[in-house]
Amino acid sequence: MTYTAAEKILKAHHREGDFLKGKEIGITIDQTLTQDATGTMVYLQYEAMNIPRVKTELSVSYVDHNTLQNDYRNMDDHRFLQSAAAKFGIYFSRPGNGICHQVHLERFGRPGKTLLGSDSHTPTGGGLGMIAIGAGGLDVAVAMAGAPFYLTYPKIIGVKLTGKLGRMCSAKDVILTVLKLETVKGGVGKIYEYFGPGVKSLTVPERATITNMGAELGATTSLFPSDEVTKAFLELQGRGNQWEEVKADEGAVYDKIIEIDLSKVEPMAACPHMPDIVVPVSELAGKPLQQVAIGSCTNSSLDDLGVAADILAGKTIAQGVSLGISPGSKQTLSAAMKNGIIEKLVDAGARILESACGPCIGMGFAPSSGGVSLRTFNRNFKGRSGTADAQVYLVSPETAAASALMGAITDPRDIKGVERKDYLAYTEIKDNMIIPPFDEKEAAKVEIVRGPNIKPCPTAKAVADNLTANVLLKTEDNITTDHIMPAGSKILPLRSNIPEISKHVFEAVDPDFPQKALAAGEGIIIGGENYGQGSSREHAALAPMYLGIKAVIVKSFARIHKANLINFGILPLTFSDPADYDKLEEGVSLSFGNLPDQLKAGREVTATLVGGSGDGTSMVFLHDMEERLLSVVLAGGLLNFTRQSSGQ
Ligand code: F3S
Repeated sequence: MTYTAAEKILKAHHREGDFLKGKEIGITIDQTLTQDATGTMVYLQYEAMNIPRVKTELSVSYVDHNTLQNDYRNMDDHRFLQSAAAKFGIYFSRPGNGICHQVHLERFGRPGKTLLGSDSHTPTGGGLGMIAIGAGGLDVAVAMAGAPFYLTYPKIIGVKLTGKLGRMCSAKDVILTVLKLETVKGGVGKIYEYFGPGVKSLTVPERATITNMGAELGATTSLFPSDEVTKAFLELQGRGNQWEEVKADEGAVYDKIIEIDLSKVEPMAACPHMPDIVVPVSELAGKPLQQVAIGSCTNSSLDDLGVAADILAGKTIAQGVSLGISPGSKQTLSAAMKNGIIEKLVDAGARILESACGPCIGMGFAPSSGGVSLRTFNRNFKGRSGTADAQVYLVSPETAAASALMGAITDPRDIKGVERKDYLAYTEIKDNMIIPPFDEKEAAKVEIVRGPNIKPCPTAKAVADNLTANVLLKTEDNITTDHIMPAGSKILPLRSNIPEISKHVFEAVDPDFPQKALAAGEGIIIGGENYGQGSSREHAALAPMYLGIKAVIVKSFARIHKANLINFGILPLTFSDPADYDKLEEGVSLSFGNLPDQLKAGREVTATLVGGSGDGTSMVFLHDMEERLLSVVLAGGLLNFTRQSSGQ
């Protein structure tokens, strides 16, 4: 049996399920990462499991998203994260140390390992030859507790690279070319594995640019082999001893192969408002622009800043353009200062921003209204830049710098006499902004610091033997997670405060719902078709769970929301006879008898209607949970289940 590089790593970490294409497999997670926007809830969930120290080889908590301080809340979050890291045995990367993916690549990623991160661009780590997957916060919390991560054995798409990139053509242009071919939906359920003779011509940060934007394909992850280039990168990082070779077996079989001749790749741009609306830069040449931003987890390495600086050296950016640079990490920024890159950039008129996500999430460097902004980032969805009607193009650092100089979109090959250089050799290591995990004795003394906005994560009780609960709400078809748990700037800061955020559940459908539910103690929601469609937000299950919802009975579910209900101990049931939907009204009750026994016995659950015109009649509901998910829901959710499985 031969395996691809991705399959070899999966196999080495395989823990549960049949190791067969299309089947669910559970894999051991070696490393985790969180960022601050998702991290507070991850550590609250981890805390609720009552497991004193993380069981991963290595876990890191980064602060890179909400670094701007408009009021006390971000700073409160940072203090909470720092103290939680100290308590649970986690590395803490302080604000200012850089963007999680860039820092992880530099200081922690290891070939052959698995990494799970509560951020969708975690696949950046695939540039080092690891399986690095972005997941929901709860998945990361349970992985830290030592539980497997479950995924469907993905299809493996081989991307064969031949040739060598031409002058002023870059890794960003390669991934934009792949996006043009595969589209933003093309990668679902797939791993993109790069191989072939062209691989060795790409540095690790270039490879990481490519795997980073595999997230835009919707892929499970992307990876490169780990070879001599990887070894040299790790040696520069003082981590040469962590290198191991990762490569596909001779004759490994891919589900599909895409071939890219690097010498034919030309500068590309993703046009508003999707990363897969990709055209050659030459087609856009001459289009005026107002803003250029270089940075983000996609393109903020030393070489990226270096090539931009060399294009701009001794010149001044166009009068109508504002140029912002956010270096990916403190390591990058320090090296860029010491070898003249920052000097060249500042001399040319660039504004140096924090080593953080910043403009990528619309913070601190929004385009002008209706303005054209060229960004080296990975996403250009409408409004993400902070300006609703801005036109954002995604390009390489070469294209960004050339265009900032000319004041219009410019093919960087038109700038003569400049080449991408190897600045990585200037790497210097100083980890003084990374706080290592406390030892157990020190950790025991740590009190977790909670500002007024951080409340413990609630958990559900195990499913009761005799459940009788009121129907608290009956909804129509196509209820979205926005209906259940609204988003928006008013709600977002409450993400770590479930009692407070739950006051907004079903706000636009029935504003009295939260009060009614809390007063009832236990309740049921009835819904129509496609219940829970839309965003995958966990809070649409977590907040109803806090309000005492025990079951949601609908005609049909959206897939991710159903999984979230199970994760938070809420029973997802469907009508055996959809006509029963009409018999259930708010105010009636359903009495389930011995529910755990019924659930274990088969796919049907019978309940007796109490009250209303059908009083005393029985109804049959269905579930489709296999053994593992059934155990999760019976335990009252994934947190309880993991706590019990680990004997806490
Ligand atoms: Fe940050 Fe943007 Fe990457 S928000 S993690 S720089 S996609």
